[in-house]
Amino acid sequence: MSGQNLSDGFFAAMENRRSYYGIKKECPISDAELEAIVKRCVKHSPTSFNMQSSRAVLLTGKHHELLWEKIAELSDKNTEDEGQKQAGRGKIEGCFKAGYGTVVFFEDQDVVNNWSKQMPMFEEGFKIWSEDAAGILHYTVWTALCANGLGATLQHYATLFKEAQGEVTSAFQLPSNWKCTAMMPFGTPAGPPGNPAHPKEFQDLDERVKTFLG
Ligand SMILES: Cc1cc2nc3c(=O)[nH]c(=O)nc-3n(C[C@H](O)[C@H](O)[C@H](O)COP(=O)(O)O)c2cc1C
Repeated sequence: MSGQNLSDGFFAAMENRRSYYGIKKECPISDAELEAIVKRCVKHSPTSFNMQSSRAVLLTGKHHELLWEKIAELSDKNTEDEGQKQAGRGKIEGCFKAGYGTVVFFEDQDVVNNWSKQMPMFEEGFKIWSEDAAGILHYTVWTALCANGLGATLQHYATLFKEAQGEVTSAFQLPSNWKCTAMMPFGTPAGPPGNPAHPKEFQDLDERVKTFLG
């Protein structure tokens, strides 16, 4: 395959990745294939100094259900207004728990802190680069899932609810030094991507990209 064709495939995968809020409890590929996709993304997504701080946990079946039950409980607990409580639960159950599985992402803080100790002049940098690496991994998994016929979204309940970090690590017996960076519920798409109330629009690229050629 020529370089041009490889590049075409890359951009096709990029453009095919979208946020799918309507997802079903179905999956066009096997759990073993899902696991292979997540592992491949973790292996090949770059990290600063190749410190390999990113972690991922793949949940399907009852484990996926348990995660979203816990998040729904936290949402109820942290929301006072009855209308907002219903809306929050509706979104969690209808858009996330309704899916086939979830990939939960973490950054291992022991790895980040050890690198900071070894190179104290980059202490602040390591925290930022760990978040950057997390974002890269979220993106590669998201793109790979969509390229395999799945729909997914990126959710930040561990940032929204302070108890979520402890709830997730204890429910799945994960190391406490794994800091949750995002949750990605996925499943076979139940409809088109995006939110129909807010169609995806693109800003003029000449306002966002400057070129100085030759
Ligand atoms: C860093 C980042 C954080 C995001 N956080 C959330 C989130 O917490 N909840 C959510 O529903 N979507 C979240 N999104 C999804 C964006 O809203 C979405 O990607 C954007 O509107 C473009 O739509 P698309 O994904 O369909 O291309 C996030 C995206 C990025 C890149």
